[in-house]
Amino acid sequence: MKKALITGASGGIGLETARQLAQQNYQVTLVARNRDRLEKALSGLSGSGHTILVADLNDKEDLQKLATHLSAEKYGVLINNAGNGTYGKFTDIPLEDQLATMQLNMQALVTLSYSFLQKAVKGDALINIGSLLAHSSLPGGAVYAGTKSFVANFSESLWCEFKPKGIYVTGFNPGAANSDFHANAGGHTSDFPKFVMSSVEDVARELVKALQKRQKPRVMQGWKNRFMLFGFRFLPRVAAVNIMSKISPGMQN
Ligand SMILES: NC(=O)c1ccc[n+]([C@@H]2O[C@H](COP(=O)([O-])OP(=O)(O)OC[C@H]3O[C@@H](n4cnc5c(N)ncnc54)[C@H](OP(=O)(O)O)[C@@H]3O)[C@@H](O)[C@H]2O)c1
Repeated sequence: MKKALITGASGGIGLETARQLAQQNYQVTLVARNRDRLEKALSGLSGSGHTILVADLNDKEDLQKLATHLSAEKYGVLINNAGNGTYGKFTDIPLEDQLATMQLNMQALVTLSYSFLQKAVKGDALINIGSLLAHSSLPGGAVYAGTKSFVANFSESLWCEFKPKGIYVTGFNPGAANSDFHANAGGHTSDFPKFVMSSVEDVARELVKALQKRQKPRVMQGWKNRFMLFGFRFLPRVAAVNIMSKISPGMQN
């Protein structure tokens, strides 16, 4: 039985991915800060042998403990999914909140990738969750979009480094999805046009499919998102960034 560790798995995309992997006979370890939500999530998983680890990846000690756990235990799959952001104009958001987003979305992800890949063997896989914003800037979410570009470029480089060893690394990039993310970031899912919004079930299904296929260094979720990004290629950058500014929840005020 393959073992998978998923960060940010007490809700949203992480939990739905855990559910789908558990249905495929993976043994999953769910990581997040909130013990109650983790225990509830655990009790809803099919199969057996699943566990939880309570950790705040913005806390240096917790992060180090999790990195040590990844070095000591053998996992076949790591999904670096925990991430956050804050909607608003750059100087309207406290700097410390934005630095904390960089810590969670980039430094924690790099630290855990390092521990996992040091022990990884042929057949193992690392999936780092980026965003459609890996391919586009976001006025009203500048730091968040920057962190997701980092995740995509970082993952693509590792894809090439680890391919000869038979270890798959990818950056999986969801478009807007119906989770608590937007409310936590100070926005609403209703800020987005309905037709671009995916369910977390659909996002997780594509993620699990990418894990099975093990091909691409970057996977963009959702045909509508792929279509939109394709269209952006034919626009001047100025036009593309202006469109993003019009639909950004962080530019509403
Ligand atoms: N939803 C979207 O539209 C969307 C689009 C593109 C990309 N993404 C990316 O997808 C990933 C998952 O997002 P989501 O939509 O599922 O968001 P979500 O519903 O807000 O879930 C975030 C998860 O991360 C955990 N988490 C947050 N801060 C943490 C910390 N400091 N340490 C440990 N765990 C932490 C949360 O649990 P606790 O609060 O219990 O810690 C929760 O389980 C993120 O990387 C996000 O950037 C989301």
